[in-house]
Amino acid sequence: MSRVPRRPFARIAHASAWPCLLVLCGCHSQHRQSVLHPDSRAADAIASLWWVMFAVLAASFLFVITLLAIAIRRSPPQTDGEAASRRRTRWLVFGGGMAFPGVILLGLLFYSLGTSMTLRRPFVGMEIVVTGHQWWWDVRYPESGIVSANEIYLPAGEPVVITLRAADVIHSFWVPNLHGKIDVLPEVETRIVLEADQPGVWRGQCAEFCGRQHAWMAFKVVALSREAFDDWVETRRSPPRPEDSTLLARGEQIFFEASCHTCHAIAGTPAQATLGPDLTHIGSRLTLGAGRIDNTDEHLARWLLDPQGLKPGNLMPETRLEPDEVTALVAYLRALQ
Ligand code: CUA
Repeated sequence: MSRVPRRPFARIAHASAWPCLLVLCGCHSQHRQSVLHPDSRAADAIASLWWVMFAVLAASFLFVITLLAIAIRRSPPQTDGEAASRRRTRWLVFGGGMAFPGVILLGLLFYSLGTSMTLRRPFVGMEIVVTGHQWWWDVRYPESGIVSANEIYLPAGEPVVITLRAADVIHSFWVPNLHGKIDVLPEVETRIVLEADQPGVWRGQCAEFCGRQHAWMAFKVVALSREAFDDWVETRRSPPRPEDSTLLARGEQIFFEASCHTCHAIAGTPAQATLGPDLTHIGSRLTLGAGRIDNTDEHLARWLLDPQGLKPGNLMPETRLEPDEVTALVAYLRALQ
């Protein structure tokens, strides 16, 4: 069941409307990407607006359909007197056709303007710079120098300012459980304040068609308690130190031999390119290919050998490697925790 909105009117709308909605749509069990499961004040205001609009417009629809049914079933006037009296009630047409929708729409307009005001917040808080690329997200923390991709870690219960840019075409940044959408533009910076009520993991998605793999331009937002977030910053601030082993050394060697470093960066190594996602802590990422597959040894091997099969049109070329080379490269990348 969806979470109950905090506002009284929205609560009534929610209570009366959600059983209908259950019938209309399949229920998703995880709610990790859902406007109707708000986990922040901003998303709660948006969900309340949605429930109120749904209830008011559903009631209006039923009202109009009922009037229509009455009109269809009504027999034509039998006498001149009856016809004249019906003409006198034509004000109903103007009232129902203009005044009624006018009042409803005006009411909803003011309610949604109120919601927009609620969403406006000062841009105060830790800054995270997110750049949209076809089809992945570059994520940078200017204060600590941390660079990541397709994952945004933030402290729960604190406002975080996300500064957004696009490297190529227009994208749109959307974490439905936490906030509304915001355009990500090539020449203009946009900003949004995210604040998760509680620790949790949510799925975000590019919400503006941006090419062939638009649907696989996803990301994760991970909110941690302040303490856990500070620990996270501490581990991410410095390059990972994979253990000394022949296999990992061989993997690192293959990373350079296969020219991976011409597109990717790994802090603490000569690889510093920024064409593709930063791989400094690739081993601890939750997904590969901007949400395309979960990050496991097997999936990483598949991604290295057949990135075009998994995500056609992305910039990653397939690597021609022997099975033992793939094993070493996977072991090395997965050790970058
Ligand atoms: Cu980026 Cu759609």
